[in-house]
Amino acid sequence: MRAYFLDKPTQAIGTDKLSAEGIHYQQLPTDELTYRAPLSALCEARGYVSQDQVHLHSGMPNLEPLLEKFFTEHLHTDEEIRFVLKGEGIFDLRDADDRWMRVHVVPGDLLIVPAQKYHRFALSDTMTITCKRLFQNQDGWAAINRQAK
Ligand code: LAC
Ligand code: NI
Repeated sequence: MRAYFLDKPTQAIGTDKLSAEGIHYQQLPTDELTYRAPLSALCEARGYVSQDQVHLHSGMPNLEPLLEKFFTEHLHTDEEIRFVLKGEGIFDLRDADDRWMRVHVVPGDLLIVPAQKYHRFALSDTMTITCKRLFQNQDGWAAINRQAK
């Protein structure tokens, strides 16, 4: 993980700042035998009841509209939990002063965006990511886009 302010990339952001913004960050091993136990402990502790795995890559059909959707600033009424297994991704998250914090995630990174926090997502120039998504409930996962202002 590497994080910095988008308007000032030389200003690095540490886990203390992420944590002050309500963003949980931790690392887990990327092999299933080793991450299985700590991941299910996390699910138990935080009440995650379901999960899936997504793989985004440049060869997939409809990648463009999907990326367009992900890069549109939005929030959710539930937490957004992502555990990166392969590839890379970029999360932009608004801090309390509405400043963009850019977080590059790599394999082994587990990031939890709190509910109601505006964010957006992009692939890095490697154009591929495989991650697990964990969910707090079985219902629909909806994005609420930010009103232009
Ligand atoms: C999502 C991420 C990409 O909502 O923010 O799935
Ligand atoms: Ni989201």
